[in-house]
Amino acid sequence: MANVLVTGGAGYVGSVCCAELLRAGHSVVVVDDLSTGFRLAVPPGAPLCESDIADPGAMRFLFSENKFDAVFHFAAKALVPESVSNPGVFFQQNVAGGISFLEAVRAAGVKKFVFSSSAAVYGAPQTVPIDEEHAKEPTNSYGETKLMLERALEWYASAYHWSVVALRYFNAAGATEAAGERHQPESHIIPLLLQTAAGGRDFFTLYGADYSTPDGTCVRDYVHVSDIAAAHLLALDAMKTSGMTAYNIGCGQGYSVRQVISAVEDVTGKRIPLRFAPRRAGDPAVLCANPTKLKRELGWEPSHSQLATIIESAWTWKLQHPRATWLPEAEPSPRVSDFAALKL
Ligand SMILES: NC(=O)c1ccc[n+]([C@@H]2O[C@H](COP(=O)([O-])OP(=O)(O)OC[C@H]3O[C@@H](n4cnc5c(N)ncnc54)[C@H](O)[C@@H]3O)[C@@H](O)[C@H]2O)c1
Repeated sequence: MANVLVTGGAGYVGSVCCAELLRAGHSVVVVDDLSTGFRLAVPPGAPLCESDIADPGAMRFLFSENKFDAVFHFAAKALVPESVSNPGVFFQQNVAGGISFLEAVRAAGVKKFVFSSSAAVYGAPQTVPIDEEHAKEPTNSYGETKLMLERALEWYASAYHWSVVALRYFNAAGATEAAGERHQPESHIIPLLLQTAAGGRDFFTLYGADYSTPDGTCVRDYVHVSDIAAAHLLALDAMKTSGMTAYNIGCGQGYSVRQVISAVEDVTGKRIPLRFAPRRAGDPAVLCANPTKLKRELGWEPSHSQLATIIESAWTWKLQHPRATWLPEAEPSPRVSDFAALKL
């Protein structure tokens, strides 16, 4: 069993992955600055170090107090619209902060690293479905920062004999009993539609109904957050030799915005009022993964990623957390140390 440091473990995908690691018998420590995450999202059993990953003193302390076998790196700024309007903060946090963190990992001698990358590294697809060899031409600074850290990791893998897996998620979606999607501001389609179904929004804005797709709306590949977590655990088991490998995480099947709206209406029994708006710059018509490599090399098979299952799980979570607050009886995770008080 491994002792895994999870950055961003108080966030949406990271918290589900922590729970899966614990369920599989691994030990977990979370480092998260709670900038977009939530203390109560960290599963019981995973101590939380409340710190910026780019704080070298805090990271030195964390690594000196713990012996980790692997790092799962989820912490990042991840809202695409913000990356377009404010690229500087993305390069500062995801790239400069990311490399400062890699240096802390290197100093501690940890050599297994799983990186949360994104389909955004590919940019506008030249062929669909997209495989890992597809050209990498990001169309927003978010994707560019993910690609830059991937490239840095390739050099770390070759120079320092790290074993690195970059997992390029397509659209993470759905919920577990304990964790659901909750970004602020929310920009992801399924939580926006569910907020509309629950009466928290008057309408859903549909950007572009004139794409060259069967019903004119954009097509995306949705993958349940539990299936993403499963891919991380498979990657951990597979990291035996040095080098870097990238895998797409997607189902290989796309759903249009209209299909998602209709599935949300079926699951919730509510009609979703729509407002139509022009296409958004940089939104390709179809984004769909070719996940063959992940299936062939790591034996991954999605088991929760049918669209109805994704939406049902997210709706159940939403009903249990009407204002997206966490269950009141949940106890905060213990903190390893008060890094705020640490002046190194
Ligand atoms: N959600 C998706 O559809 C999706 C798709 C592709 C890739 N990803 C990637 O997956 C990862 C997790 O995404 P998410 O949707 O769970 O986002 P999230 O915002 O819910 O989680 C990110 C977590 O990282 C923490 N964090 C951010 N910067 C930090 C820093 N400097 N130091 C310490 N903690 C920090 C936040 O507080 C938060 O808890 C991100 O790297 C994201 O780019 C997500």
